Parts: sequence; C-alpha cells; structure tokens
Amino acid sequence: MLLFPLLGALALSVYGKSLMDPSTEEEAMAYLKQFGYLQKPLESDSEEFSLEEVQKAIEAFQLASQLPESGLMDNATLERMRQPRCGLEDPFNQVTLRYLLLGRWRKKNLTYRIYNYTPDMPKEKVREAIKAAFKYWSDVTPLKFREIDYGRADIRISFHQGGVGCSRPFDGPGKVLAHADIPELGTVHFDEDEEWTEGSYFGVNLRIIAAHELGHALGLGHSRFSNALMAPVYSGYKSNFRLHDDDVKGMQALYGKNCFCKNDKYEEKKPVTTLAPAVPTPTGPMPDPCHDDLDAIILGPYGKTYAFKGDYVWTITDYGTGPVTKIQSLWKGLPGNLDAAVHSKRTKRTYFFKGDKFWRYTDFKLNYGYPKALTRVPPNISAALFWEGNQKIFLFKGDDYWQWDELAWSILQPKKISSLFTGVPGKLDAALTWKNSKIYFFKGDKYWRVNKQLRVDRGYPLSKAERWMQCIHLD
Ligand SMILES: *[C@@H]1O[C@H](CO)[C@@H](O)[C@H](O)[C@H]1NC(C)=O
Ligand SMILES: *[C@@H]1O[C@H](CO)[C@@H](O)[C@H](O)[C@H]1NC(C)=O
Ligand SMILES: *[C@@H]1O[C@H](CO)[C@@H](O)[C@H](O)[C@H]1NC(C)=O
Repeated sequence: MLLFPLLGALALSVYGKSLMDPSTEEEAMAYLKQFGYLQKPLESDSEEFSLEEVQKAIEAFQLASQLPESGLMDNATLERMRQPRCGLEDPFNQVTLRYLLLGRWRKKNLTYRIYNYTPDMPKEKVREAIKAAFKYWSDVTPLKFREIDYGRADIRISFHQGGVGCSRPFDGPGKVLAHADIPELGTVHFDEDEEWTEGSYFGVNLRIIAAHELGHALGLGHSRFSNALMAPVYSGYKSNFRLHDDDVKGMQALYGKNCFCKNDKYEEKKPVTTLAPAVPTPTGPMPDPCHDDLDAIILGPYGKTYAFKGDYVWTITDYGTGPVTKIQSLWKGLPGNLDAAVHSKRTKRTYFFKGDKFWRYTDFKLNYGYPKALTRVPPNISAALFWEGNQKIFLFKGDDYWQWDELAWSILQPKKISSLFTGVPGKLDAALTWKNSKIYFFKGDKYWRVNKQLRVDRGYPLSKAERWMQCIHLD
C-alpha cells in the first residue's frame, strides 16, 4: 500500500523550496500520523490525506509547540518533532479544537502493569485507585483493561523520584505531578515526591491524576474546559468526581461509544461513577482559580506562592496552579475567608488577617499566643505585603495604607495609597512582593505591577487568570 501518495505534491507545495529531502518528508508525515495530528476516522481504511489536511496538521502541531503557524514544514518544526520525549508535551494552546487527539491504540483490549508502589498508600489502595482510574474510561468506551503482574504490558505504571528511571526528571513536590506518553507508547509515571492519597483533601488524589494521565496514554490532549478531567491543571480532590462531557466526547471520538447492539439499536451503557466520600464535605465551596477573586496571596515559606480563597489555598508555579487544598491541611488552626496575608522576608513569619484578629505562623506552625486582637489598625484589612525597600509590612484597607515595623513598637498612621503608589486602585483584594522583588496588587481579575518608583508599570492592569493562574482564554 502506498502510504503517502501525495508526497510529490507536498514536496512542491507544502514544504516549498525543497527544504526537505523525501526521507525527511516521510519522517514528518509519520510523526504527524503517530501523534494524532493527521488522522482518518476509525472506519476509513484510506491512508490518503489531502494537501489541506496535511497543512492543517502541521499548523496544529506548530500551535501546540508554540511555533509560528505557517503550515509549512520548516527546520524549526522538524527539530521540534525530533526532540526526545518522556511524557507529554503540553498541547494546551490548541484552542481551536474542543479537545486535541494525540493518537490512538489500534487494539481495544489493553493490559496494564504497576511496576512499583508509592509508600504513601497501602499497596491494595494503589491498585484500587489505578483500577478505578481505568474504569472511568472503560465505562464510556469499548476499551477493556486487564492488570497483569509479569511481562510487558501495554500501559506501564510506575512511581519515580526526581530524575531516577525516566529521561524527563520530576521536579520534587508540586508543579508536575505525573506524566504519560501518548499512544502507543504506554508509559505513565507518577512523581514520588507528591503525597499520594485517596479519599482526602490532603495531598494529591492518585485516582484522579491516574485517570488524567491514562487519558493522555489513551490519546487525549488537554481540554480547554477548566472543570474537565483533562484540564491541564489539577483542581483538587472532589468526593463526587466524574468525567466532564468534554472528556467523554474526546475519548469517544477516539474509540467510539460503549454500546451493545440490541434489536439493531444502539444502547449506551450507563457509566457507573463516583466513589463514596471518605471525609465530610468542606464547609465552603471549592474555588476555581480561573474565575474567583483572591482573598489573599503570599510569597510564602520556601519561596512558594500561595493563593487563598474561601477555605482553600493553592500554589502558583511557573507552570500554572497546583492542587487546590484546604487551608487547614497546611496551616492548622487558621480560618477560611481570610482578609489578607503576608510573609515577612525579614522574620520569616507569616501573618494572616481576618476581622479584628491576626494569626502569626513560623512555616506552618502557629506561634504561641496567637491569634491576637488587631488593635493598631482597623478590622477588615483588605491586603498586605512585605516591602523589601524598607523591610516593613504594608497593610491596606479602602483607600488607606499603614506601614508596620514588625520589630518595633510604633503608632500606625493611615495614609492614602495614592500618596505613595501611583496608579494603584483602592479597595484591593490582595497584594504581595514577588520573587522578582516587584510589588503586585490584585483586585477582581485585574492585577497591577509596580516599579521601583512605586508607579504602575506600563501595560497594566493585566488578567490574573491568564498570567498568574495560566487559565486558557476562550474565544
Ligand atoms: C535547514 O537545515 C539544513 C540542514 O541542517 C540546512 O542546510 C538549511 O540551510 C536549513 N534551512 C533553513 C531555512 O534554515
Ligand atoms: C477482549 O476482551 C473481551 C473480554 O474482556 C473478550 O470477550 C474479547 O474477545 C477480547 N477481544 C480480543 C480481540 O481479544
Ligand atoms: C468587618 O467585617 C465583618 C464581616 O464582614 C462585619 O460584620 C463588620 O461590620 C466589619 N467591621 C468593620 C469595622 O468594617
């Protein structure tokens, strides 16, 4: 069978000026097909692709690789295709499709094997979590999964710490939780530096992350719906977790629906979902980092950025947001719905403000005698930050601010925000001095960056959701 009957035409029209020799063209075509950029419906047995389909596939690959979308096979594109991969490139920018398909297994009965276990959970619980993760997908497709404990399985699951056992090293706690290869490679790796859990808001839920990684291993890219399982950001443990319609549609586009024929009619099997909640539901709703305003934000202990909303906190990294966890699981004794928070670089203490009280922590330990009454400033502070310039803490409320020296007793006098900062609004939600020593102010979805002269930088405000939470922008 002639695999690439259009090759001649491509050499002329797609690749242009014979940039590529025929073997390179063949390599590129094979890559686009293997990784799902070029695909025919399952039923089609034709292997022919039109020029337009090939151009679209190259564009989709370039978009996903953050290369200029020329639709032409140039050196940069080829180079990107040749990069070694352990784990999935993030095709997150693929906003033109509802879901991005990365490839497909040719068989529907697949085996899996768990090569090692995390010490965080009993072995049987790990096996149950992985089994449940596969079940989400087998419930909605004709796929069948069987665990084996010897020999080479189609899908190979293991836990790794740092760079051990994988060419793409993990990064310690937070950030990257797991990664998987696309069909038909079958590796699924979990970061052993995470705290893997089940039935708990603490740590990272193994079942949900496994279901997400299996989604990749079976050929799904990331979804642009932030509440889909295949969203690029883990949104934390949910006791009533279930697949999003976009997850189901994406997988069914790859493998078809789970149905059986009865009287010549297709009947869909009802997906069985949800495990019973193992802990009581939290008091407040789980926030959505993409849409909710902030209560507070700090550059906290160990240089991590923490964002607070309601009863929850999540970290912000260069790669987006970390899992949303209960504040109580990190700072024991701290209430939710905080007014403001600040971490002092000078004393390494973290202060939290709510109503007419404030709490002081060293790392995650509440200091003796706290909470204390807020007496030198009015209650209901709205934002707080540590300014490296004078090593003082700034508290904000309405249009006013107070400067507070942690290590000296002084009367605090309110001053107008506009008398110190140029271009910063009043009634702030949150503020911090970040790793780059710059001051940021937050209000709604907007944020302002302030320069050394304490003026708002040009081009601000920008969107917090886009820049800080790295949420995809629809439309
Ligand atoms: C592409 O790479 C080849 C081989 O490395 C080189 O000869 C050619 O000049 C490059 N073309 C462009 C447009 O950079
Ligand atoms: C797949 O597995 C099912 C049962 O699990 C079995 O009935 C079917 O024959 C298998 N198909 C293949 C192609 O092995
Ligand atoms: C502070 O906030 C609480 C709760 O929103 C409110 O009941 C109280 O009146 C506020 N106090 C002041 C002085 O603004």
